[in-house]
Amino acid sequence: MDTIYKRTDPGNIDMSVISEAGRIIRAGGLVAFPTETVYGLGADALNPAAASKIYEAKGRPSDNPLIVHIADIGSVYEIAADVTPEAEALAKRYWPGPLTMIFKGKDIVPKETTGGLDTVAIRFPSHPVAKAFIASAGGYVAAPSANISGRPSPTTGDHVFCDMNGRIDMIIDSGYCNIGIESTIIDLSAGTPMMLRPGYVSEEDLREVIGDIEKDPAVFGNDTSAKPKAPGMKYRHYAPKGEMLIVSGSKERVRSYIMERIEEKPEGVRLGVLTFSEDAPAFEGADLVADMGRSDNTDMTAHRLYDSLRRCDDEDIDIILSEEPCSGRLGPAIMNRLIKAAGHNIIHVD
Ligand code: TXA
Ligand code: MG
Repeated sequence: MDTIYKRTDPGNIDMSVISEAGRIIRAGGLVAFPTETVYGLGADALNPAAASKIYEAKGRPSDNPLIVHIADIGSVYEIAADVTPEAEALAKRYWPGPLTMIFKGKDIVPKETTGGLDTVAIRFPSHPVAKAFIASAGGYVAAPSANISGRPSPTTGDHVFCDMNGRIDMIIDSGYCNIGIESTIIDLSAGTPMMLRPGYVSEEDLREVIGDIEKDPAVFGNDTSAKPKAPGMKYRHYAPKGEMLIVSGSKERVRSYIMERIEEKPEGVRLGVLTFSEDAPAFEGADLVADMGRSDNTDMTAHRLYDSLRRCDDEDIDIILSEEPCSGRLGPAIMNRLIKAAGHNIIHVD
C-alpha cells in the first residue's frame, strides 16, 4: 500500500490535510496522527472492520483494547454508560490532555475497539492537530500508539514513517510530541478509581481532584507475576536488540560503574548509555551516549526517552546501560517504561 505522507504545523494547521485524513477515516482507513503524548494510529472507533485493521498494521494481539479519542466532552456520553461525578471532575480539570479514563461501555462501541471488554477507554487529547483531525474523522477515533508492536512508541513523524510506511493509508507529521510518553490511565468503571498506567497526570494530580484512588498492584508494585488490569501493560513494550540494564544508586557509584563497564568492554561489543546532560561527558568512550537532558528535568527525560531507545537499535547497540530518572512529576512514568524495556533488569550499585 502507498502511504500518503503530509506535514502540517500545529500552529498553522493545513485544513486540506485534515479533511483528507478525515475522509480516509470515514471510509474505513487508517491514519497516524500526532498527540501531545505520542503519535496514535487511528481508525473509526465505531466501525468494527476499520478497528480490526489496526491490529493487523501493528502486529498487535487482538485482546488488547484501544483508546477512543474524542474532540468534544459531550461525546463521552454517547459511548460511555456510566459517567460518574468523579469522572466529570477529572474531565473538567485535565481534558483536553494526557489522561485516559475507563468507563462502562455502551453497545455502539464494537468489541473490535474494546478488545471484547464491556468497558471503554476514552481520551480527549489537547494537541491542536489531533483535535482537528478527530472532529473531521467523525468524532470517535480508536488509536493505540503508532508503532509496530514491540517497538517504542513513536514521538516524531519519522518514527511513525519507519514503522508504518506501506502499512497504513496516511501519516500526518507535526514534528515532536511535547510530552513523549503515553497518557495516564485511570479506571472509573467500578468501585474506587484505580490508576492503571502512570503518565504526565500524576497520582497527586488525581488525588487532588477525586481524593482516594487505588493503584494497580501489578504495575505499581514489585510482584512481576501479577496480571495488570490494562491488558497492554502485560506486554514487554520494547525488547531492545541489546541487553538493557538499569543502574540504580548514588550518582557517584552509578557513574563509576558505567565508566568501568565502558573500560572493560570486550572487543566488538557495542555499548550505549542512556544518561543525563551533567553525566554525558564522563561516558565519552561509549559507542552511543543518549543525553536525555538534565536529570532534574523529568519533562525533558520523558520527551527524549523513546527516541533514545530507538537510537540504540538503529546503532546496533549490544549492551544498554541506563541511569535512573529523578523523582520529578514524570519520574514514576519514566521508570515504569524503563523497567519494561529492561525486562526488570536492575543492578543496585550502592
Ligand atoms: O497517550 C496515549 O494514551 C496514546 C495516544 C495515542 O493517545 N495511546 C496509547 O495507546 O498509549 P496504547 O494502545 O499503546 O495503550 C493503551 C492502553 C493499553 O495498555 C490497553 O490495554 C489499555 O490502554 N486499555 C484500553 N482500553 C482499556 C480498557 N477498557 N480497560 C483496561 N485497559 C484498557
Ligand atoms: Mg502502545
